Amino acid sequence: MSTKKLQVAIDGPASAGKSTVAKLIAKQFGYVYCDTGAMYRSITLKVIQEGIKLDDEPKIVSILDNTTIGFEPGQPQQLVFLDHQDVTNQIRSEQVTNSVSTVAALPGVRKNLVDQQRKIASHGGVIMDGRDIGTTVLPNANLKIFLVASVSERAERRFKDNAEKGIHTPLKELAAEIETRDYKDSHRKVSPLIKASDAIEINTTQMSIQDVVTEISKLMKNKLNNG
Ligand code: DC
Repeated sequence: MSTKKLQVAIDGPASAGKSTVAKLIAKQFGYVYCDTGAMYRSITLKVIQEGIKLDDEPKIVSILDNTTIGFEPGQPQQLVFLDHQDVTNQIRSEQVTNSVSTVAALPGVRKNLVDQQRKIASHGGVIMDGRDIGTTVLPNANLKIFLVASVSERAERRFKDNAEKGIHTPLKELAAEIETRDYKDSHRKVSPLIKASDAIEINTTQMSIQDVVTEISKLMKNKLNNG
């Protein structure tokens, strides 16, 4: 196989399977996995911990310079560090999940995190997932994937994930939360969630994780072999 290292952008709405698939592909190709949602979640956690209002942009931007977000390999999942503290589980709490869209809509926050994301991807060999990777962060990515799935399927997936963690939010509530987050993510002024014109859309509603991984790997191998 070629020594070329691709930049792969995987975008799509909440719970479409992006991170599960991105992690597996990164492992298969020996690439770095960058979960940009975890970066927005980490900032949101800090904002909550410091008692800052979710839309207080000047204050939030002012703490960004003294904030470090890092990833480290871990089992069974990559670990996320906020100011050198492991926040891998904390950033998945319901409070962070329901607050993150507001913080992620702030232009100053996006500018700071997008700069960091571009640095992470600058040497290639990266699978980056999020909402604006193909449109804004890496507009020249070698491969752009847009993953979608029905709201009911995504709510079912969240329900199962939550049950494993001992969280029992009713399915209806999860579907409503997903719809609210989709709406906020797609209607914000800066870098809304939209499919890049050159992205390949994959509807995962009826697909297994392995089917999606196989499909994206094929597309990557094609890029590596044929440019
Ligand atoms: O993928 P996720 O659910 O962990 O993302 C959390 C939130 O962060 C989501 O509501 C939208 C926001 N986000 C974003 O605005 N841009 C990204 N590149 C990634 C996530």
